[in-house]
Amino acid sequence: MGDPLKFFRMVADHDGSLAEISLGGRRFYVVNDPNVIRDILVTQSGQFEKFPQPNTKQKLFGKGLLTSEGGAQKEQRRLLLPAFHRERLPVYAGHMVELVETMSGAWRPGDVVDVAGFMNTLTLRVIGRSLLGVNDEEVLARLGGHLATMLHMVNRFVMPWGDVLMRLPLPSSLRYRAASDELERMIAKLIADAKANDAREGTLLSVLLEARRAHGAALTDEEIRDEIVTMIIAGHETVAVGLTWCLHLLAKDRGLQRDLATRTESVLGRQDPVVEHYTELEFLQQAFSESLRMYPPIWIMGRRALTPYSFGDFQAAAKSVFLVCMADLHRRPEFFGEDAGVFQPERWVNPTWPSYAYIPFGAGDRRCIGERFAWLEAVFFLACLLRRWEFTGVDEEPAAVPQLTLHPRGTVRLKVTKREASRMDEAVSYTSA
Ligand code: HEM
Repeated sequence: MGDPLKFFRMVADHDGSLAEISLGGRRFYVVNDPNVIRDILVTQSGQFEKFPQPNTKQKLFGKGLLTSEGGAQKEQRRLLLPAFHRERLPVYAGHMVELVETMSGAWRPGDVVDVAGFMNTLTLRVIGRSLLGVNDEEVLARLGGHLATMLHMVNRFVMPWGDVLMRLPLPSSLRYRAASDELERMIAKLIADAKANDAREGTLLSVLLEARRAHGAALTDEEIRDEIVTMIIAGHETVAVGLTWCLHLLAKDRGLQRDLATRTESVLGRQDPVVEHYTELEFLQQAFSESLRMYPPIWIMGRRALTPYSFGDFQAAAKSVFLVCMADLHRRPEFFGEDAGVFQPERWVNPTWPSYAYIPFGAGDRRCIGERFAWLEAVFFLACLLRRWEFTGVDEEPAAVPQLTLHPRGTVRLKVTKREASRMDEAVSYTSA
């Protein structure tokens, strides 16, 4: 497991679409059969719980939507959905465009940009502004810093003795606790401020404050805290990593970049993108779809059977664990052809693979709640960046590191130059306004 991506590829190459492996006395099944994937995630999802279950002693996600189960998850999802309703999208889109224009407006032709860092800051600002109503960049930077410190150590939580290690006065444990204490103080203040005035109107925070359970009770501060932390974590690094890979892939093909930029200009003219443009920017959706296929930010999903499970002739005992490694599934030649390892956005013009062979946002009743938000963000960021800038890689191909997300090793540095014949220079933009 020193190289999980290689391991999952080997298992599927060797043992086919449903392979059994034994690890630490536990039975695991690696699933690459789209029909079984649908069965587990959609048709029979009630027979499964997420795997691994969070370590409740190390409160990071708490009992937020990402980690909750059963009736609690269903109710939380119902309460949170209004924050992602179609009606809210125009406001979110406005924030996204304004923030990407402002941040990229600071680039100068010839600059070498740390794209991973840029995307991380940008997506955190979007979440801060749209979902929490926070504009203060310094507050968001501190929030992001504390979360990064905590996430860096998240693997420890699942280790045997992880709890004990975390209680020992090791420098890393002390750093974790300091970050955690500070994060709790900041979130508590955010909730208290939102309660004291209505300034957060139209945000996820206001949705959470107004939410009422089936029996009429409001959410407690702790429940609100858990949902907020969950959304910040689930909603910013995923998009940031996805877009970093996408720009990296585009930087290798300047012809494709030019083509996308020209088509973007013909849709937008001199306007900034608004939700009505989204459907017409289909070619940017295809580029991002293809990038998510090759580098799915959430690269693996696990489920544990609550009861014995069967599919056709196949039978598995209760407690068996099923793993779907999207980083491998999305590159299987039996679904995507012999050129599965090649970045080809045009394959999306006529998709030929079976349903559930491509699931970057999961599937079924636990499918990503922020998917629409993520698509809007990705397409609008690409539109704003590509129409003004041309990107060229300066480093070697980065290795893909499968941790909490599938991120590139180190930084991804791209050189930015002004796009020739860009009519955008004279356009009224947020930067010049
Ligand atoms: C490219 C960006 C994103 C990717 C690839 C992604 C991927 C995923 C995947 C695969 C799942 C399902 C996990 C499972 O079933 O085990 C998921 C769930 C979730 N995502 Fe996303 N996500 C993205 C963006 C977002 C955004 C922007 C938000 C919030 C603003 C978000 C919030 C969540 C939440 C709360 C869940 C749990 C839903 C539930 O269990 O009911 N995600 N995401």
